[in-house]
Amino acid sequence: MLHETREFDAIILGAGAAGLMCAIEAGKRGRRVAVLELADRPGKKILISGGGRCNFTNIYCRPDNFLSANPHFAKSALARYTPRHFIDLVKKHGIAYHEKTLGQLFCDHSSRQVLDMLLTECADAGVEIFTSTRTEQIEHSSNFTFHTSKGIFQTEALVIATGGLSIPKMGATAFGYEIARQFGINIIPTRPALVPLTLSDDDCANLCDLAGVSTDVTASIGRQFFREKMLVTHHGLSGPAILQISSYWEPSKTIDLDLGPQKQLLAAMLTSPSGRDARRAASLLREVLPQRLADRLIALAKPASWTNHAIQQLESKFHRWPIIPSGTEGYDKAEVTAGGVDTDELSSSTMECNRVPGLFFIGEVVDVTGHLGGFNFQWAWASGAAAGRAL
Ligand code: FDA
Repeated sequence: MLHETREFDAIILGAGAAGLMCAIEAGKRGRRVAVLELADRPGKKILISGGGRCNFTNIYCRPDNFLSANPHFAKSALARYTPRHFIDLVKKHGIAYHEKTLGQLFCDHSSRQVLDMLLTECADAGVEIFTSTRTEQIEHSSNFTFHTSKGIFQTEALVIATGGLSIPKMGATAFGYEIARQFGINIIPTRPALVPLTLSDDDCANLCDLAGVSTDVTASIGRQFFREKMLVTHHGLSGPAILQISSYWEPSKTIDLDLGPQKQLLAAMLTSPSGRDARRAASLLREVLPQRLADRLIALAKPASWTNHAIQQLESKFHRWPIIPSGTEGYDKAEVTAGGVDTDELSSSTMECNRVPGLFFIGEVVDVTGHLGGFNFQWAWASGAAAGRAL
């Protein structure tokens, strides 16, 4: 069957967070915009985000909440589209929200409201969204022309917003990276981030039967640290502190866990000569840690004697418990993909490729990865708005 060629001022591939924001900003400026989405519905990740309540931004968003080979790259876009801009949009649509913790803003009711808000803004801005549309091949001369399952599309400005590799079950594809490669654009190697970590068989034998136990820790690698909850899982460790530090972890690197941040764990033993034994140590640890974890740690540490020196050493060890993960649970469980399109290839104010005028990359496909807590959506909104205002 022959299809007509559809022409637009700008075409965005991917109707996720970044793509929809970009479409809104470009549409509002009078551009004829199409968004082509492979899945049968737009914004699937928005719907499942934040446990169904979408942690849509973080009021304490700062450039150092992001990882990138160039830590300065994200600054310009983040400064021009701030959490306040997104909060204003949320308020305009009457969506009730609350701060959960550490500046993280969640919908009171459902992520669906954020998606509906973006789709309403798209409709108001005259954006056309084509779902279930597979892009086959992109040709570039003065324009970009491409064949899709819905016919041929043509545009002067092509925005790649196809996201990262995390959660392939939900339709994540490597398409964005393939396009980058087609145009000779460098890619910083990708890796799963904000991802649960696995432990070696030996470490798992010591800990993993405690799956479900969670406690406050500080997890650190070098000078980077996160003080949040850690959760023991059937395969290793998870919880916010571990997800956060996983983005900084590389194979064979040690993660130090402070199991009693800013707390004295065994100090009471030093001043009382009586009751210097494993039972007393466990009961002191239980004041800070869940009982099963406290008992297990004492059983694992088992000092030969309970001298002052041994107690002090153990206190230090609990504040700097070294863990060498055996790996991560991979893209199946990763909230985001770190690495991606090299920011050296892009303009930090417009997200346009320096070497391929008219080609833009936004959102997670770019080598900018946020911490847990609404920062990844803030990057999607900010990079989407930066490109949308430049199209
Ligand atoms: P996103 O993945 O949102 O969108 C890409 C779109 O492109 C998808 O619709 C996809 O189907 C489409 N696509 C792929 N290949 C294509 C192709 N070949 N052609 C056309 N379309 C194609 N972040 C946060 O800040 N707060 C939170 O609460 C959460 N919660 C959360 C939960 C879970 C379970 C996950 C997996 C992730 C989060 N995140 C998050 C991260 C956040 O979802 C993510 O960073 C953003 O969705 C990235 O936005 P993008 O638009 O770049 O990609």
